[in-house]
Amino acid sequence: MRTHVVDHPLVAHKLTALRDEGTDSPTFRSLTDELVTLLAYEATREVRVDPHDIVTPVAPTTGVRLAAPKPLVVPILRAGLGMLDGMMRLLPTAEVGFLGMMRNEETLQATTYAERLPEDLAGRQCYVLDPMLATGGTLAAAITFLTDRGANDITAICLLAAPEGCARLEADLEGLDVPVTVVTAAMDEKLNDKGYIVPGLGDAGDRLYGVVG
Ligand code: URA
Repeated sequence: MRTHVVDHPLVAHKLTALRDEGTDSPTFRSLTDELVTLLAYEATREVRVDPHDIVTPVAPTTGVRLAAPKPLVVPILRAGLGMLDGMMRLLPTAEVGFLGMMRNEETLQATTYAERLPEDLAGRQCYVLDPMLATGGTLAAAITFLTDRGANDITAICLLAAPEGCARLEADLEGLDVPVTVVTAAMDEKLNDKGYIVPGLGDAGDRLYGVVG
């Protein structure tokens, strides 16, 4: 597994505003959107392309275009939905599949409660959107779900990551013969005893969409 922390002053600037507890939901959503587009630029560095012949007004030339099958973008519901628009801005022709996962706040185990994905993901390059790589349980379960269906290249885009989550992901995916990359805006210090990232930004889903009772 490869972890890439995007080191860019604009990313750090937006992330600081995102972390601030005084940032309201509308601002939080638009900052997430902007931040994801910046992260997506890095995350798509290895997106598959094929050569493509065109004719400019001056001369024929060969460029590239996205290869088939198209990349699949998979937001993890609910909070990953807040990252979808920012991702699709860079990859408008990608397909989108949905995976609903939630963690039990006591056991911290991830369970799948909804799924809308192609049955066959053979040879697909997948971009998983999950804002908080905290314990790593949800992301490990999502990646396993996709690779079990045949996905053969996975990039996870996370606003924030914790060292414990990265270590768990690495351990859970050991032996998996599929390249996995995590792209994040920051590697934070640790998890607290409730499984929240410290200093983090709080509950990403609640800050995007409000508290559901
Ligand atoms: N999920 C969140 O939304 N925030 C955290 O800090 C950890 C998990």
